[in-house]
Amino acid sequence: MKKKEIISGFSKLSQDEKLSLATGLFKTPREAKKDFLSFYHPDKNTQELLSGFSENTITNFPLPYNVAPNFLINDKMYVVPMVIEESSVVAAASYAARFWATQGGFKARVSGTEKVGQLHFLFSGDPTALKNAMPQMEKFLREKAAPVTAKMEKRGGGILSMKLKDFSSEIEHFYQLHVTFETMDAMGANFINSCLEAFSKGMQAFFEQTTGFSPADFEPLMAILSNYTPNCMVEVSASCPVENLKGIASGFSPEEFARRFGQAVKIAQTDVYRATTHNKGIMNGVDAVILATGNDFRAVEAAAHAYASRNGKYQSLSKATLENNRFHFSLEMPMAVGTLGGLTSLHPLAARSMELLGHPDAKQLMMIAAAAGLANNFAAVRSLITTGIQAGHMKMHLPNIMRQLQATKEEENKIYAYFKERKVSYQAVTGYLQALRSEKE
Ligand code: MEV
Repeated sequence: MKKKEIISGFSKLSQDEKLSLATGLFKTPREAKKDFLSFYHPDKNTQELLSGFSENTITNFPLPYNVAPNFLINDKMYVVPMVIEESSVVAAASYAARFWATQGGFKARVSGTEKVGQLHFLFSGDPTALKNAMPQMEKFLREKAAPVTAKMEKRGGGILSMKLKDFSSEIEHFYQLHVTFETMDAMGANFINSCLEAFSKGMQAFFEQTTGFSPADFEPLMAILSNYTPNCMVEVSASCPVENLKGIASGFSPEEFARRFGQAVKIAQTDVYRATTHNKGIMNGVDAVILATGNDFRAVEAAAHAYASRNGKYQSLSKATLENNRFHFSLEMPMAVGTLGGLTSLHPLAARSMELLGHPDAKQLMMIAAAAGLANNFAAVRSLITTGIQAGHMKMHLPNIMRQLQATKEEENKIYAYFKERKVSYQAVTGYLQALRSEKE
């Protein structure tokens, strides 16, 4: 295939044809195809199911499925599934979960479950008439969307409120229908988008049927949910008397540890560069649970970072306080997840994750993912203010380094023994391995 050549009709090819075409771009197409095929699921039905989640699928991309035990959340013990490829995240989460389990565990609550959708439109008629027509229009639109909302209403959800927002001073003729929803245990994206598209058609009909309006004055632009959900919030915290932090970091008194920890979180509230990395550490835990349960981590990420900027400055999502000799660490973030619909039951391993978690509802899943986020944040900041992050990280990364250096089993054992009490670095492992190999010669 020539560079810049357009590929037409790719989506209509069979999976095997797509694979052949794609692997034809490799230096060694046969080997590449063999590699890709080796990641096919051995069960044909399962492979068809996996391929059906997306388009132009040519293989699967496996990631480690891990579990972090000892998550005590609101007095219930969980073994938490985490899908993540980064070394030390699961070890860090497990370490923190175990420590906090000895201190009463995590306390969590969901302070709201409201989702948002927007119909963005242009209106060139009389703005006052539009505003005055809103109560009548809302009734009309709710009726138009009734076939979409019926099932959700039976489950206890549906449309909560509808508000007209006037942006015409910022963008000529631009208005928004801002709608809030309750989607119960569904993440709700499909439901919300279907409602909004029904509203768009409904608005057109309203302007056709209502005197004083002309359909020519209305131009629908976009009907889409908002991933910003500041009223779909979860809070999680962990706290203990300062003296109980004894032994959490050798060489540091509990008071010193708590003071340094508080400083670290303050820095993440002050400086955007640090805040971004601090929050990334939180999302290490959150995303891993979101992925393991078949939820949309991009949506959760987008909302988290927008919320972190709510005061006009990007800040830490977590807080640490020291009051009356108690260390208190907490996290508050928006989170739109579902335990019903989407991939949550379709993906065989997402379904297993739900089972492992005891079939949580959406609120419980929010609390579990947030606890994983707080646990990872605690472990990361603990390392940063004590040993530094590289010691633990590189220890966990040691198997990858050995694999890269093609160490034999015998060499691996020697490397593990040698680096048990030593600082791991790529250079140090290479040096030691070279010494081992030249000893043998
Ligand atoms: C690495 O994935 C996450 C950390 O950088 C988080 C942090 O710095 O707080 C260790």
